[in-house]
Amino acid sequence: MKRFDGQTAIVTGAGSGGLGAAYADALAAGGVQVVVADIRGPEAGAAADRIEAAGGEAMGIEVDITDEGAVHAMVDRAVNRFGKVDILINNAAVMFRFLDKPRTPFWEMPVAEFELVQRVNVTGSWLCAKAVFPHMRRQGSGKIINISSNMALGTDLAWPARMAAYTTSKAGVIGLTRALAGEAGPHGVTVNAVAPGVTNTETVGEHIDAERMEAVAQSQALRRQAWPKDIVGTVLFLCSSDSDFMTGQVLCVDGGFAAH
Ligand SMILES: NC(=O)c1ccc[n+]([C@@H]2O[C@H](COP(=O)([O-])OP(=O)(O)OC[C@H]3O[C@@H](n4cnc5c(N)ncnc54)[C@H](O)[C@@H]3O)[C@@H](O)[C@H]2O)c1
Repeated sequence: MKRFDGQTAIVTGAGSGGLGAAYADALAAGGVQVVVADIRGPEAGAAADRIEAAGGEAMGIEVDITDEGAVHAMVDRAVNRFGKVDILINNAAVMFRFLDKPRTPFWEMPVAEFELVQRVNVTGSWLCAKAVFPHMRRQGSGKIINISSNMALGTDLAWPARMAAYTTSKAGVIGLTRALAGEAGPHGVTVNAVAPGVTNTETVGEHIDAERMEAVAQSQALRRQAWPKDIVGTVLFLCSSDSDFMTGQVLCVDGGFAAH
């Protein structure tokens, strides 16, 4: 018997080789039927194939989480195939990928750029929660895990991160988590957030140089760089019955970087 046998999860933004893929792989290894959802359809399909090749059960779905109709269609396909949704991991986000290099200071940032980041990271997370909630309410249980960032909790103000839109959105994700937790709790559904620190993924590697990565590591209480496997355990805890009496909480996993 595996830890999560018989459960079904949707993991958004799991098509890339980043954190979402690590959550999807770990859930599948624990017996979860996983929907890998990403705006990059072929990558979502490839990630699902990889899970199935490893003996798991998965389905890849191309979805833009800012499109309410597409999000509902994704949830319908998940329920048609697996019968229910027990877990939603709201991991999809825009960090830098669609944005210019070098990153833009806030006083030069176009409105469209700021709003795009809020739309994907905050509105998209809300739309996914909105679409799965009726199914979770019907079964009287469910786990929604929103991925925030330690940048929303406390960051290095001396480093010109130039991530005003992103940091604002990830603070929004924390507010969303608390608000939804209050409304969903009476229906048996928990809503919590994980706030990772800077973690080595392909996207981060393309935009933060090695020197800065090492400087971050040396600013942490735990002086080494983070990898996706460092975040997975906390996410699995929030997906599991071990966290059944927790809701509306934010767990920061950053090696002791953010002081808050
Ligand atoms: N890596 C880090 O250092 C770090 C730190 C703190 C928080 N996070 C958060 O962790 C999550 C994953 O980060 P990552 O480093 O793996 O990034 P990533 O860029 O590899 O993953 C993000 C995924 O979201 C998908 N996506 C973007 N817009 C979408 C949309 N509209 N609809 C559906 N999918 C969409 C992308 O295609 C991509 O696969 C993000 O929420 C990020 O903000 C990452």
